[in-house]
Amino acid sequence: MTPEENNDHKTTRRGFLELTLGWTTATAAVAASSAAAVRFLMPNVLYEPSARFKAGKPDEFADGSITFLDAERVFLLRKGNTFRCLSAVCTHLGCTVNETKTGYHCPCHGSVFDEQGKNVSGPAPKPLSWFLVTLSPDGRIVIDKNQVVPADKYLVI
Ligand code: FES
Repeated sequence: MTPEENNDHKTTRRGFLELTLGWTTATAAVAASSAAAVRFLMPNVLYEPSARFKAGKPDEFADGSITFLDAERVFLLRKGNTFRCLSAVCTHLGCTVNETKTGYHCPCHGSVFDEQGKNVSGPAPKPLSWFLVTLSPDGRIVIDKNQVVPADKYLVI
């Protein structure tokens, strides 16, 4: 083999290695961008229960009652023909508060809220939230935990 032939052989091997590296890099780039495109097509959604739900018909709740809706962690209060909804989630670290004779009490760190949900003692930094209560066309009470309202906003039926 002449040195010139040997040199051609080295060039061919280098070319092969460069070609292999090029194709490998190109394939990896296409695979990465394809994976990104497929991920882009998938919805970026959390499948959580809706914050808006129906609580039942008004006559299912007695006048003067405070009903704890366990699954939703809210209290539904009826007074005469008015309805309000109070969050049962403590504003300190999110424990569920209990109803007491004078308001609400958090069993975790002892925060106390009055009957309007105002924090009166303990580490809770702010009052419990009141949520919007409406009536659906089929006559059921609808609570929307996405809409915080003032304590004096009622649904009147
Ligand atoms: S979570 Fe309610 S007082 Fe801490």
